[in-house]
Amino acid sequence: MRLTELDTPCLLLDLDRVEWNIARMAAFFAERPAKLRPHFKTPKTPEVARRQLAAGAIGITVAKLGEAEVLADAGLGPILVANQVVGAPKLRRLVTLLARGVDITVAVESEANVREIAAAAREAGVTAQAIIEVDSGMHRCGTVSPAETVALARLLGESGIRYRGIMGYEGHAVLLPAEERQLKAEAALTIVSAHVEALLEAGLAPEIVSVGGTGTYAIAGSWPGVTEVQAGSYVFMDGRYQQMLPVEFESALTLLTTVIAVRGEYAVCDAGMKSLTNEFGAPKSVDGRLVASRLSEEHAHLTGEGVAGLAVGDRVEILPSHGDTTLNLNSVYHVRRGDEVVAEWPILGARKYH
Ligand SMILES: Cc1ncc(COP(=O)(O)O)c(C=O)c1O
Repeated sequence: MRLTELDTPCLLLDLDRVEWNIARMAAFFAERPAKLRPHFKTPKTPEVARRQLAAGAIGITVAKLGEAEVLADAGLGPILVANQVVGAPKLRRLVTLLARGVDITVAVESEANVREIAAAAREAGVTAQAIIEVDSGMHRCGTVSPAETVALARLLGESGIRYRGIMGYEGHAVLLPAEERQLKAEAALTIVSAHVEALLEAGLAPEIVSVGGTGTYAIAGSWPGVTEVQAGSYVFMDGRYQQMLPVEFESALTLLTTVIAVRGEYAVCDAGMKSLTNEFGAPKSVDGRLVASRLSEEHAHLTGEGVAGLAVGDRVEILPSHGDTTLNLNSVYHVRRGDEVVAEWPILGARKYH
């Protein structure tokens, strides 16, 4: 099928570019002690995760159990939930995965959560596995003092949970300009190292030290003691990331739309906030000549120098400013090579909030 035959709005995924991004990131990690455990929050399809694993990734990172279930059903892993799994309904699903033999490790950062995981695992007769999330400066989740981390590592052992290490995510650094990013990332990684040091002194050597995102992969991947990096966005490179790291990876995800009205200074296309997000700034057309400057539910106002040449029925390909939230609103990738649609991949991890 040709791209011109597709109905709009629809997501296009450029497979050549995805393969390039996977190969490029894999090459970075190939000769290093640190490895890649790419974050599934970006591709949300096993088709991409499978390719990342085939290229050398040591496992997959997820944010939600629902994403873990998608991977487990596809037979992919080992899985790291880089997030807290809290409350009985989720723990029932966690122990079900463990009972199926899925290699899944969760992050913990509170005593209460460790105790409820331990109780759920005991009741189900399975062994849970956990790493401790450290707050490396983002001030989201995470232990603050190394003493707190050591105490939690001890509690894991006492509770029958397999203690595997620690993680930190320097999300406050990943999208900063280069120099500032370097400094903030180094400060964050220094905090993680202090926690590692305390664990070593306590005889609790971490097997996993998991950090990093796309904006900091090179800094994090070269940091002493780091065993893995959780970068996710690199595989699609949305508009905002493309501004930060323009030469390293290629933008692979676009939204194909149709112009439905041309009204002088502006035109209107058929994608609104139900298929495209703008919290990271107004998305632009791939050629940069049009800006989706206003979104309503099913319409986008297109402004900019490209409006002059537009006619009703024209196709406009938009580069999402935030890929992860845009693709989460959609259900399928139309996988392209050039102008040919070569596959359709359901976005199985979309809207897995639980
Ligand atoms: C815990 C965690 N790790 C890794 C990432 C991946 O970051 P990036 O999108 O910069 O690749 C994220 C992104 O939200 C995250 O929350």
